[in-house]
Amino acid sequence: MPELVRYDVRDRVAILTVDNPPVNALGPGVLEAIEAAVARVCADPGVDAMVLIGAGSTFIAGADIRIFGTLKTREQSLARSEGTHARLLRIEEATKPVVAAIHGNALGGGLEVAMACHYRVIAPDASVGQPEVTLGIIPGAGGTQRLPRLCGADLAIEMCTGGKPVPAARALSAGIVDLVAGANLLDDAVAFARAKAAAGETRKTRALVEKIADRSAGVAACAAARTTLAKTSRGLQAPLKAVDAIEAAFTLDFAAGSARERDLFAGCVTSTECRALVHMFFAEREAAKVPDVPKDTPVTPIVRAAVIGAGTMGGGIAMAYANVGIPVLLKDVDDGAVQRGLATIRRNYESSVAKGRMTSEALQRTLALITPTTTYDGFEDVDIVVEAAFEDMALKRVIFADLGRITKASCILASNTSSLDIDEFARASGRPGQVIGHHFFSPANVMKLLEIVRGRETSRETIATSLAVAKRLGKVGVVVGNCFAFVANRMLAYYMREALLLLEEGATVPQIDGALTAFGMPVGPFGMQDIAGIDVGWRIRQFLKSIGKTRAEGPQSAVPDRLYEMGRYGQKTGAGWYRYEPGSRERIHDPLVDQIAAEEAAKRGVTRRQVDDDEIVARIMTALTNEGARVLEEGYATRASDIDVVYCHGFGYPRHVGGPMFYADTVGLPTVLARIKEYRERHGNYWKPAGLLEKLAAEGRGFNG
Ligand code: 3HC
Repeated sequence: MPELVRYDVRDRVAILTVDNPPVNALGPGVLEAIEAAVARVCADPGVDAMVLIGAGSTFIAGADIRIFGTLKTREQSLARSEGTHARLLRIEEATKPVVAAIHGNALGGGLEVAMACHYRVIAPDASVGQPEVTLGIIPGAGGTQRLPRLCGADLAIEMCTGGKPVPAARALSAGIVDLVAGANLLDDAVAFARAKAAAGETRKTRALVEKIADRSAGVAACAAARTTLAKTSRGLQAPLKAVDAIEAAFTLDFAAGSARERDLFAGCVTSTECRALVHMFFAEREAAKVPDVPKDTPVTPIVRAAVIGAGTMGGGIAMAYANVGIPVLLKDVDDGAVQRGLATIRRNYESSVAKGRMTSEALQRTLALITPTTTYDGFEDVDIVVEAAFEDMALKRVIFADLGRITKASCILASNTSSLDIDEFARASGRPGQVIGHHFFSPANVMKLLEIVRGRETSRETIATSLAVAKRLGKVGVVVGNCFAFVANRMLAYYMREALLLLEEGATVPQIDGALTAFGMPVGPFGMQDIAGIDVGWRIRQFLKSIGKTRAEGPQSAVPDRLYEMGRYGQKTGAGWYRYEPGSRERIHDPLVDQIAAEEAAKRGVTRRQVDDDEIVARIMTALTNEGARVLEEGYATRASDIDVVYCHGFGYPRHVGGPMFYADTVGLPTVLARIKEYRERHGNYWKPAGLLEKLAAEGRGFNG
């Protein structure tokens, strides 16, 4: 067994190196080994001080997240936390200076260990954070008590409720760290430790009083945070619990505050919110692992890119590349189209500058990376082309044939199509190994999902490169198979179908949207269509008709077509599923839509009735899960958790619910199956349970095991 903490001595300073790859998480035995090493230093007459540092690319990145799944009861959690708190107290009690040397990230339990050390020295490009809320928990190793003592209420609340790491410079000015190192972190930390030993100084964070002295200000900051979170936390419990724990730092002594933290942590770690968010953490990382694409598959470096089509999607994709510093050619058929696309891109960046999210210099620098063009000049040098032209197979075939001729042999030829057959492009290109779908989600520069669609002959290198590109663009890449509409839109079609049928049965547009936003969706299906454009949906339906397909099996509501025929395209025309006052995006219920829904219901012989919110959520989620199960059994997704990642990052499905497949597991597959059978009785045979769902339910298993 390799040592979890190495012990070296340099000029009477011990260097304790935590070595638990890949990120030095506090897995079994790590904290125990740190405690033992600290005790050894204190007993070692040849050593005056110690530096705690991480091996590899980072300091300690937190508790080992896998451990949370083993804490099934409050008692188990409390017992574990008590042990952890006691160990950190003993480290803090060390009789010789303990200096944490932070590079990479000190996150969660990592920062909590660092705060139990007497001092912290940080590399200039490192950061510190308490990201526990992103996992549905609060800091559970004293973070809510020590952090306010170092930096006060406001930043502690910001860090523990938002979860975003704080860079070195800010950590220094806030008092979380004591020194930002120069070029050599370890040298500077050793020198710092030696100086503290020479001065005979140790400092216990838990004994600091200055930043928590104004108790009423701390309590007021917590009250203000609760008011804000009530509006912004979208059903998440952990941020509110973090505030409760931080408040205890101002109202109780350290021991009682720590006990309060342990109690609140136990409530969080056993919650469904935590299970769902931990599921998503691992699901996002699993998605990058494709069974037949080994980790060491060669990846083509992407230095230059090109995008074909300067419309909404093409422009957004060009921005995604430029945002990470990759120069990109943006091609459209004529100068007018390219300039219009460029003007939209500029407007988007200007709006970021106006909101303070980008500097004017960054705007100029980023915009300069996008080169408009109407020809293929320069395409011979690019490493990837993303085609985002109209959804027209004939047009795309020509484009791929051109690209196959013009680009270099290693160039990846990606298509942003949302439904066309990737294999047809592959054939047209003459280079099928390099052809792949890169399906972005609107707005492409913002939405996190990149659905990577592998064709029959797509090479492993092309898939591996696509996953690397997704990571580089700050996206979550998920590799899916080449089925009709791929995974995200195929499932969305069933989500929409059910919303439309519920509308015809008697629910209203605001009621359906409201039920789904209460469930955690950022926007309901009708609000979403009003943003995307009802005309866009209409065009897709026309195209599908032309190839003899429908988006989802089952009854097709004619209400969207009626709205289209009335010129109600959504927000852009001031009316769609809702009405909008000029210049406003506030959704106003329009009884006219109810009337149209009633008319269409009558035509289909549907009896209108009162529909309640629970039925809305259950029906829509069941439709989504059932289609997800079909995708899985047909082999178009590698694992259920990939579908969860697709839906969370493509359509804003709440991560704290864990994605549609995980949600079904929490509901219980027998219940989901029983619902489908009940819906079939009530609504017709288009409700057919997926074979996989029946099988797993019969075996007492879930989609995720
Ligand atoms: N526990 C277990 N495994 C972890 C882990 C953790 N805390 N952090 C990362 N890993 C694993 C990942 O699952 C991944 O494994 P894989 O290679 O088998 O898929 C591997 O480490 C590398 O992770 P990334 O792919 O995410 O690597 P990056 O370099 O992109 O990012 C990172 C590194 C910034 C450290 C990122 O992994 C991260 O944010 N980790 C989570 C940090 C966190 O949330 N810490 C708090 C934990 S909760 C806690 O500490 C509670 C405490 O208060 C008691």
